[in-house]
Amino acid sequence: MNFEQLKPQVETIVLNTGKTVKERLLSLCELLEKHVNHYNWVGFYFRNGIKEELVLGPYVGEPTDHTVIPFGKGICGQVAISNQNFVVPDVSAQDNYIACSITVKAEIVVPIFVDGKNIGQIDIDSNTPDPFTDADERFLEFVCAKVTKIL
Ligand code: SME
Repeated sequence: MNFEQLKPQVETIVLNTGKTVKERLLSLCELLEKHVNHYNWVGFYFRNGIKEELVLGPYVGEPTDHTVIPFGKGICGQVAISNQNFVVPDVSAQDNYIACSITVKAEIVVPIFVDGKNIGQIDIDSNTPDPFTDADERFLEFVCAKVTKIL
């Protein structure tokens, strides 16, 4: 399924007030992991109150030990500070990287803003080398903009 086909499904999930926010976020992870071939681990991290750390939220994929990530650490921790998308075509070329699984070759992290504040992010790992394009960034920005409305 391509990104344009996925967008209405993202909207349907987000607008389903019959489910809790957590359930909807998990459904989004399931949708993306199932229908985008190069998405192999899909999850959300959120800022832990006023603490400078991220806490793992709903996700789909292998369980990770990294349920709390300090700001500045790894790709996720860097995005918490930079407020910018981070596309990593080759994780082995990154010094500041937290490995979750040896199968992961690439990663993309896109921040989520509420009232202009960076409150979390969507994090995607891929087992395919260098799989992400501008289209992934635009699509994930779309997903994050929808998620913002229910946080
Ligand atoms: N690789 C991430 C850690 C989170 S896992 O991918 C689930 C990072 O470097 O921040």
